[in-house]
Amino acid sequence: MRDQITPLLSEARIQARVREMGAQLARDYAGKDLVVVGLLNGVYPFFADLTRALDLDFEVGFMQVSSYGGGTESTGEVHILKDLDTSIQGRHALVVEDIVDTGLTLFKVRHLLLDREPASLRICTLLDKPSRRKIEVPVDYTGFSIEDHFVVGYGLDYDGKLRNLPYVGVYHP
Ligand code: IMP
Ligand code: MG
Repeated sequence: MRDQITPLLSEARIQARVREMGAQLARDYAGKDLVVVGLLNGVYPFFADLTRALDLDFEVGFMQVSSYGGGTESTGEVHILKDLDTSIQGRHALVVEDIVDTGLTLFKVRHLLLDREPASLRICTLLDKPSRRKIEVPVDYTGFSIEDHFVVGYGLDYDGKLRNLPYVGVYHP
């Protein structure tokens, strides 16, 4: 599988950007009651690195959602496989995602979480593919904007694999 990958973002570049994002979030959320919400599975390396670069006291929580539809396209029909086990009512919620593609997943997750009346809700993603957007969703923090490539590594998978790579590359099936 690995011989089908063209490197796109090196480990060093990702780590430098994640540290910058952590510093920015530390400024923006200083003194606030923050819950950082990770969307499993793809977010796990980014989440671990970002939260360790965020020098504040906050709670973490996870959700797992799946967009059915088959293949590499999401349909917008979002099913909750695992819900948050902490309340965000009256608190500042920061949703962390690996990649925003069509926007359908985050659109749904955002509305679901807004119904719980957080004090604020922002979205932070490592990668964004703006040219693929099908529905507007406000993304507050973006690591890297990329072209319309199918990417793997640093949490992103092809067929459930390649999440463990420390870099991001374009996958050519
Ligand atoms: P959206 O609902 O289309 O924005 O889908 C976002 C989800 O699709 C992400 O959380 C990923 O799981 C998956 N996804 C989108 N683009 C890629 C990609 O290039 N590589 C791997 N997974 C992707
Ligand atoms: Mg994902």
